[in-house]
Amino acid sequence: MDIKITRSTHLKEKPDQNHLGFGNYFTDHMLTIDYDEGQGWHDARITPYEPIAMDPAAMVLHYAQETFEGLKAYRNPNGDVMLFRPEMNARRMINSNARLCMPALPEEMFIEAVEAIVKYEQDWIPTAPDTSLYIRPFMYAAQPSVGVHPANSYKFIIILSPVGAYYPEGVNPIKIWVEDEYVRAVKGGTGFTKCGGNYAASVAAQVKAEQKGYTQVLWLDGVHRKYVEEVGTMNIMFYIGDEIITAPIDGSVLPGVTRDSMLRLLKDWGYKVSERELSIDDLMEAGHNGTLKEVFGTGTAAVISPVGELNYKGDIVTINDFKTGPLTQRLYDTLTGIQWGKIEDPYQWTRIIK
Ligand code: COI
Repeated sequence: MDIKITRSTHLKEKPDQNHLGFGNYFTDHMLTIDYDEGQGWHDARITPYEPIAMDPAAMVLHYAQETFEGLKAYRNPNGDVMLFRPEMNARRMINSNARLCMPALPEEMFIEAVEAIVKYEQDWIPTAPDTSLYIRPFMYAAQPSVGVHPANSYKFIIILSPVGAYYPEGVNPIKIWVEDEYVRAVKGGTGFTKCGGNYAASVAAQVKAEQKGYTQVLWLDGVHRKYVEEVGTMNIMFYIGDEIITAPIDGSVLPGVTRDSMLRLLKDWGYKVSERELSIDDLMEAGHNGTLKEVFGTGTAAVISPVGELNYKGDIVTINDFKTGPLTQRLYDTLTGIQWGKIEDPYQWTRIIK
């Protein structure tokens, strides 16, 4: 792929690496690729980071044909720039796009684009503990039209943001509100995709949870409001008795890259891992009878986030005395060790950008 580069004439001052927060700063450049029906993907370019001019009738603004991804770049102790399983993001975006009738960006093109912009902006990769460069590829319908149909033109853009922890709590336990009024997804819908609409629909519950003093929402399935599915920005796993349980990927749950990686680690460590339905009643019962040992969310942005409290209709369960459990800590140390290149990567998950 030929990528044309226009360098910014006003490079920004880099933010303080110890107070990055999440998603507050953006680098000097962005990468764009255009798509037009009949022509395919064309005009890949790196340009200064700037506002996007858009027709007010651009279809994304009306009917939300938009998908996105999230992955991170890290600098290992040798100074190399590394990505973590970018092919998983490329494939997930292809699946998301298929559901939203958007064109597929081929896997090799996705990876080449990510590598090109990250390499170009590598001075922005923070090196303070627990920081990384968050990569946000996204695609939207650009065609001006107010009829409801798949657009005939799209833009694929990548922006980059140096980040610290997603939650202010860092790797300390968070409190979770079990949502029994709103639903996130149903099978046959878009729950398995990473599309902006899923997140728009989640905000009301998120606001409600925050008003009640909770960091995130745990979604129940949209039909029975009975089975636990995922958390606002993460998949979630429950360690009950001798089994680690997480919701199956069967249409309404996001196939998380971190989820997949954790399942692999857990299986290799000899744990009994089940991708199966778990009812909220069984979960609360386990919380009360002492068999619920640990609960943790998994996601690219959050990495792994221990859950210290669940509130379901006023019934409260405290997990592991509101402390980060040993298994959660071991998973965090192993995954971040691999991602930051501090420990061996037996899975070949990391990829050095040459
Ligand atoms: C990620 O974990 O990368 C996500 O995309 C979640 C997000 C909505 C911040």
